Amino acid sequence: MSKRRIGILTGGGDCPGLNAVIRAITKTAILKFRMEVIGFLDGFNGLVEDRYMELTFDSVSNILTQGGTILGTSSRDHLFQIPSPSKKNPTGPNRLHDALRVFQKHRLNKLICIGGDGTLTVAHTLQRYGIPVIGVPKTIDNDVHGTDITFGFDSARTVATEAVDRLHTTAASHHRIMVVEVMGRHAGWIALHAGLAGGGDVILIPEIPFSLAEVCRVVWKRSQKGRRFSLVVIAEGAHPKGKSPVVMCSPAMGHRPRLGGVGIALAEEIEQRTGLEARATILGHLQRGGTPTPFDRVLATQFGYAAACLANREGGSGKMVCWKKGAIWHTDLKEAAGRSRTVPLNSPLIAAAKAVGTSFGV
Ligand code: F6P
Repeated sequence: MSKRRIGILTGGGDCPGLNAVIRAITKTAILKFRMEVIGFLDGFNGLVEDRYMELTFDSVSNILTQGGTILGTSSRDHLFQIPSPSKKNPTGPNRLHDALRVFQKHRLNKLICIGGDGTLTVAHTLQRYGIPVIGVPKTIDNDVHGTDITFGFDSARTVATEAVDRLHTTAASHHRIMVVEVMGRHAGWIALHAGLAGGGDVILIPEIPFSLAEVCRVVWKRSQKGRRFSLVVIAEGAHPKGKSPVVMCSPAMGHRPRLGGVGIALAEEIEQRTGLEARATILGHLQRGGTPTPFDRVLATQFGYAAACLANREGGSGKMVCWKKGAIWHTDLKEAAGRSRTVPLNSPLIAAAKAVGTSFGV
């Protein structure tokens, strides 16, 4: 009897822990379920173009601690959009039939898609098109709907917290306002956690549009009380009330708008309005690089094991592995499709930050 076979791909932005998941899926599939595994290269591009590598026990050894993804990735979600004949420049070809053809050519039983909301939305489309898919949620932004946490997030908040700690010393020595801009797209999880962990005086998140006047009042008041520096942690998607988030550049075809730069704008405003010296640091992709934290390695390994178990099950597709109430579960893939999980306004983290005197700029 021929062996059962599964495919894996990683889509969207890279993050620490992807290799740990690839390793866990592959080793579990081979050791526990006697399956064969292939990995498609560069996300869905590799699937529709039939570019892949065999994943063996040896090829996934020694990758647990490596950042990035040995499979490569792509952040272009437009691949499966159906072109509108009325548009002069259609957004992209419908490649669903290519994906199905390649899936069938390799005699795959399941396809495991590891990614954030964009990738999981496409994965859900593939599932509806007849390809049995299992989702694994990843992203530093921690904003995938249907799971309480994604791997990659802990590594990112660790980098961001360390940056806040390091900037603390310059802030204190030079009596400056240090503004730290972190990633997270339209969710404030990284800013909230790094701000709390690093003792930020002001935390600005997209979920709570801020008032410039209030931010300036807070840092000014601190200086009047003899606290000669302030730390402001701002999420890239945070914005003043009534204004849109700052976009770094217009998106290339198939990409989302790239957020970034709000920290610089804020530092300039603070300096102009208060006369206090202010500097901005944008952490950018530093938050996505490097080795995963132990937490992310453990979570990624558990997710990978759970995904391989689902792949082994009769049925078992159309699901996403997830972390709920302190344990590994699985949920419907459609939970994650087309939506994201932002910081709830009644979050206990917000309450705790406010209780210790942190301002959210309102
Ligand atoms: O989703 C992860 C993330 O790092 C976001 O925090 C950020 O807005 C975006 O990706 C950056 O994307 P890119 O790497 O395409 O510039």
